Amino acid sequence: MSERPETPARYTHGHHESVLRSHTWRTVDNSAAYLAPLLRPGRSLLDVGSGPGTITVDLADRLAPGRVVGVDSASVVVEQATALARERGVENVEFVTADLYALPFDDDTFDVVHAHQVLQHVGDPVAALREMRRVAVPGGVVAAREVDYHGVVWAPESPGLERWMDVYQQVHRGNGGEPDAGRRLRGWALEAGLTDVVSSASVWCFASDEERAWWGDSWAARATQSAFHGDAIGKGVATDAELRGIADAWLAWRDAPDGTLFMPHGEVLARA
Ligand SMILES: C[S@@+](CC[C@H](N)C(=O)[O-])C[C@H]1O[C@@H](n2cnc3c(N)ncnc32)[C@H](O)[C@@H]1O
Repeated sequence: MSERPETPARYTHGHHESVLRSHTWRTVDNSAAYLAPLLRPGRSLLDVGSGPGTITVDLADRLAPGRVVGVDSASVVVEQATALARERGVENVEFVTADLYALPFDDDTFDVVHAHQVLQHVGDPVAALREMRRVAVPGGVVAAREVDYHGVVWAPESPGLERWMDVYQQVHRGNGGEPDAGRRLRGWALEAGLTDVVSSASVWCFASDEERAWWGDSWAARATQSAFHGDAIGKGVATDAELRGIADAWLAWRDAPDGTLFMPHGEVLARA
């Protein structure tokens, strides 16, 4: 078990519908392609911070009959993920409510231990990676992918989206997380004692009318209705009026035919 930080980080996004709308789009193809070549049928896998479970269920499909487990500290998304697996008829996966600093598994249990967009939200990502390494079989794979917010770029220019970035960075850091986790992932993996650390990067691109509508609407709602809204006001980072301005900026970006956004992610594949 890894020691939990005295002041645990607060999960910045929360589980509002506007947040889950974006998270449930995720698949192995768009979010874990760097890991795909290592997904051999029969291998076991633990997905840490599995959220609504769309990536986990996709992983289970590829690894069947291997055992796949998703853990998350929020029971609301554990229930949602369990329902998704049932709906899709994927039987080799289960979801458990647990804290990633104290994973409820013996040492040396899983062939692959994976986390997607989780380490950026925890106060001690190195301790989290050590705990992931503990439950991986010796020589097993530890894989992680994290966004790098300061690397996000967009067109057309927008003072409202510049303000969004500023507010987002302050809220995420204020919650004890690291919004620029992507560039730090390799360092964290090395500090956690992982070996054979291979780094890569990949980018989400949102530009088509459909992608802009989905991402722009999601962030407009997140700015005014999700945990992000309450945190920004509570921390004195932005006023309600400013957050409404940020929502308007997202809607303007959504409606701009030349609207484009690139979101880069750092990735590591390492040995336990
Ligand atoms: C950004 S979501 C990513 C969900 C999923 N991996 C995906 O990419 O769709 C991060 C998830 O980590 C979970 N989480 C945050 N801190 C955690 C902790 N200490 N232990 C377990 N899960 C945690 C949150 O509840 C949330 O569901």
